[in-house]
Amino acid sequence: MDWESLRQQFPVTGRWAFFDHAAVAPLSGPAQQAMTDWAADMAENGDAVLKKWENRVEEVRGLAGRLIHADPLDIAFVKNTSEGIGFVAEGLSWRPGDNVVTAAEEYPSNLYPWMNLAGRGVELRQVASRGNRIEIDDLRAALDGRTRLVSLSSVEFASGFRNDLNAIGSICRERGILFFVDAIQSLGVLPLDVQQTPVDFLSADGHKWMLGPEGAGIFYIRRELVDQLHVNGVGWNSVIGCHDFSHIDFRLKPHAGRWESGTLNVAGITALGASLELLLGLGIDQVAERVVELTDYLCASASAAGLEVFSSRRQSDRSGIASLRTEAEPRSLVRNCKAEGIVVNQRSGRVRISPHCYNNREEIDRLIQLLAG
Ligand SMILES: Cc1ncc(COP(=O)(O)O)c(C=O)c1O
Repeated sequence: MDWESLRQQFPVTGRWAFFDHAAVAPLSGPAQQAMTDWAADMAENGDAVLKKWENRVEEVRGLAGRLIHADPLDIAFVKNTSEGIGFVAEGLSWRPGDNVVTAAEEYPSNLYPWMNLAGRGVELRQVASRGNRIEIDDLRAALDGRTRLVSLSSVEFASGFRNDLNAIGSICRERGILFFVDAIQSLGVLPLDVQQTPVDFLSADGHKWMLGPEGAGIFYIRRELVDQLHVNGVGWNSVIGCHDFSHIDFRLKPHAGRWESGTLNVAGITALGASLELLLGLGIDQVAERVVELTDYLCASASAAGLEVFSSRRQSDRSGIASLRTEAEPRSLVRNCKAEGIVVNQRSGRVRISPHCYNNREEIDRLIQLLAG
């Protein structure tokens, strides 16, 4: 794979060594072009070209399906990860005494929707990490006969710890517990096959590793569960005969499409599609290998320079996120880096570095020199 020439498709490389894909990624060149094309077409033609863009949305649904090995009909477009989490939190028929199990180090969007169920008698159990890992035995110990759902990130946003979705999903399936995955910190760079991994629901916006714009993401629901989840906020587009506006017939679509209540963010979905085409064309396995190799190099260089790597480097725990403990205050380090043309971030009192496949070792060398200096 010629990773160096791939850089030409990333305008961000002109100015920055960009290592913040775990926050908001730069658009790929093709995504930028797709948005520009859409804007020009809509400005010049309005809804005379609507059908063309509706067709494109369906193509992108197909790409999202390929990404996670799902039937495209099992995918609904969402405005962000939180929206998909809300579909499930607000849509399941909770009974007082039910509980939800998650990790204490989850991003707030995977905590508040479950905390918001306290008034309905649902308890949220937050499993603490041990050091830089979430132990499966600790998760298992938190489950009981009243656990309805486990909700976890595929990769934890601050530590970069990669949860073992196969193992956790299997435990859930064996016990009849639903399994929700917030996949925003891995989709695009780490493979996921929902035919193999027992995932019931998944949500991820496209603005991180999928290299799309903000506000266009995907929600997946296993087809067998569609009728178990009440749809809050149905709209004209939720029903089977959605395009026949003069014939009212309230029959919900028999798949994820019922959660798409109305008009979609076509500009965002179109741009997301262009980045997904790029990533799928490279091959997600190849992208994963590259990203993990770069984070490995980063961590090895950081250690060699006397910096403390917080993220677990066990083979199966690794992701695109590397978290470093530094003596200097992380916020000031982030500012110093920015002044030198390097974008990193800080989370949980540590410097967080998140390279994508188009980054290179030379950029990493510059970063480590700066952090160690
Ligand atoms: C694990 C995780 N979930 C969700 C989000 C963002 O949620 P949303 O797409 O709803 O803005 C982030 C952003 O940092 C995240 O790290």
